[in-house]
Amino acid sequence: MIPDKAPKEDVFHGSEDLKKEAHITSFENYKELYMKSIENPDEFWGDVAKDFFWKTKHTGQFLDYNFDVTKGEIFVKCMEGASTNISYNLLDRNVHERKLGDKVAFYWEGNEPGDELTVTYRELLQRVCQFANVLKSQGVKKGDRVSIYMPMVVELVVAMLACARIGAVHSIVFAGFSAESLCERIMDSQCSLLITADGFYRGDKLINLKLLADEALQKCRDKGFPIEKCIMLKHLSKEAEETSLGSQSPPAKRSCPDLQVPWNPEVDLCWHALVRGASDECEPEWCGSEDPLFILYTSGSTGKPKGVLHTVSGYMLYTAATFKLVFDYQLDDVYWCTADIGWITGHSYITYGPLANGATSVLFEGLPTYPDVSRMWEIVDKYHVTKFYTAPTAIRLLMKYGSEPVQKYKRESLKVLGTVGEPINPEAWQWYYNVVGERRCPIVDTFWQTETGGHVLTPLPAATPMKPGSATFPFFGVVPAILNESGEELEGPSEGYLVFKQPWPGVMRTVYGNHQRFETTYFKKFPGYYVTGDGCRRDKDGYYWITGRIDDMLNVSGHLLSTAEVESALVEHEAVAEAAVVGRPHPVKGESLYCFVTLADGVTYNRTLEAELKKQVREKIGAIATPDYIQNAPALPKTRSGKIMRRVLRKIACDERDLGDISTLADSSVVEQLFQNRCCTAV
Ligand code: PRX
Repeated sequence: MIPDKAPKEDVFHGSEDLKKEAHITSFENYKELYMKSIENPDEFWGDVAKDFFWKTKHTGQFLDYNFDVTKGEIFVKCMEGASTNISYNLLDRNVHERKLGDKVAFYWEGNEPGDELTVTYRELLQRVCQFANVLKSQGVKKGDRVSIYMPMVVELVVAMLACARIGAVHSIVFAGFSAESLCERIMDSQCSLLITADGFYRGDKLINLKLLADEALQKCRDKGFPIEKCIMLKHLSKEAEETSLGSQSPPAKRSCPDLQVPWNPEVDLCWHALVRGASDECEPEWCGSEDPLFILYTSGSTGKPKGVLHTVSGYMLYTAATFKLVFDYQLDDVYWCTADIGWITGHSYITYGPLANGATSVLFEGLPTYPDVSRMWEIVDKYHVTKFYTAPTAIRLLMKYGSEPVQKYKRESLKVLGTVGEPINPEAWQWYYNVVGERRCPIVDTFWQTETGGHVLTPLPAATPMKPGSATFPFFGVVPAILNESGEELEGPSEGYLVFKQPWPGVMRTVYGNHQRFETTYFKKFPGYYVTGDGCRRDKDGYYWITGRIDDMLNVSGHLLSTAEVESALVEHEAVAEAAVVGRPHPVKGESLYCFVTLADGVTYNRTLEAELKKQVREKIGAIATPDYIQNAPALPKTRSGKIMRRVLRKIACDERDLGDISTLADSSVVEQLFQNRCCTAV
């Protein structure tokens, strides 16, 4: 339960100035509204819904659900009976009703400094309509799935909102994923069309995205799933200068005339050519509240990614409300979230939440360290960013270079700082608070998941006293609990499984094509609760502290990876008989991948094999899953029943000799052997 009064000791506050304009001005104010949100969710969310346009009103209960597997199928329905269109609410409503047509929706800042572009709400609406017409002309209909594999360009937002406008379901695949991962996702969601780009730069590195997209489509064909259409945006290639839509789409300054873009006229279509002939008016498709909006894949503990499905109305209300209140959004803000749109953070807090509020955002294509480690702060000053949202891994990375690169820039505009993706260690928190925010800016440490759609545990910047490393309290409508192994709710200070007792509008509705997996993954272990998979501690003041994953998931640079997925990529190599992957703490990435491999008979371990294994994982999953350590393990520590004791492997990876009880091991001599051959340097 939320305490009546906020603690006074060992807490931090933002500046008093923020309170003057804030939506939620005090802890008491938060608590009062929170109680209303859980006692009368219909009224609370009904008030949020009043800001939006509904073609038809909802009938029946605002939020209907079953969270208990023992009582039947799990379901959540929000505003059943209502119809709306999310792109209409994000664009037409802002342009026509709120008169924000000339307001900047995005300042696009390219990888290369000086590469920039401004898009207003009116322009964005026109471009979305044009591209929606393009999709229609290619036969895409309501309910069809469209795969998007693009860099961080305005056209990515255009593509996703064009899908939403015609009721098609977008499935965005992060452009850092491999061709194999793209193919797997295209096939799982049975996409009928792929949208991609020629290529892009990440810092100095050129990524030929079209080559990867083609490889993925070939893999789909080989597996009996032909995709007939692929629309390619020319972002880098020379022709972009010639075919661009005037001021709407200037090419990247660092164009790449030599980029070899493979072209198959049977399948490939040019974005620019299609758009040139398309009308910039497009009547939205009126969608039911529970119609699917998008699928986004997240790692699953079995190794096969899960297609998390979000639906129209609940997701819209939730991302809009969390964006407004957690960042305390005001009309003159310039907001910047550094995430990639290929992850849920980008979906909810670059596209949907900010646009639903009519916000002005920075959309950044580049890296925090390119061309130098001041880039972030240079951009903050350039656009007068007021609200800044990034990941602990980025903070830790920049922290290594000290305060000088930060202090080269003024950062006077900053008012609120945010973090997401993993627990933030207190040292990084302090640096962010003291150096970046100069003790003036509150930090909102937002805990949430691809599955939750939006923030679920988070401070509110002018209302919640902060404790470094704690995600503090639940957002409105969210009811957390901590359970012990037997599923009993723990009261007061305690530690255990973090679960939620009732849905909020933005929670996922199913795993695409596999409702049973949805129920098993999130609802079976503790009937009646949504199980997050995270451990959590509640302190004496009622603050929640995430302690990390308690399943076989790793969090590398704020991205979840399943150990099973990496293991299966390794054992696909003919030299590998068995593999076990564990996390090892890493000063910047949070966790790094430590892989134990048992080789097939007769194979010897050497550097060439090590390089091949690394390559194998990169090709199967993507660069984020590249192993940091690979250890040749002639045998793995197993119980008599043959189960690998990962707990012991984690200790070996960290060189910690305190192993606890290992009496169930079939052969304990294996452990000493592994300690002796530990891999001390990253591969
Ligand atoms: O373990 C938690 C961690 O990230 C997981 C969700 O990952 P994903 O679905 O990829 O979404 C990341 C962006 C929302 C969680 O189960 N996590 C996320 N935010 C935090 C966090 N752990 C601690 N504190 C956070 N603020």
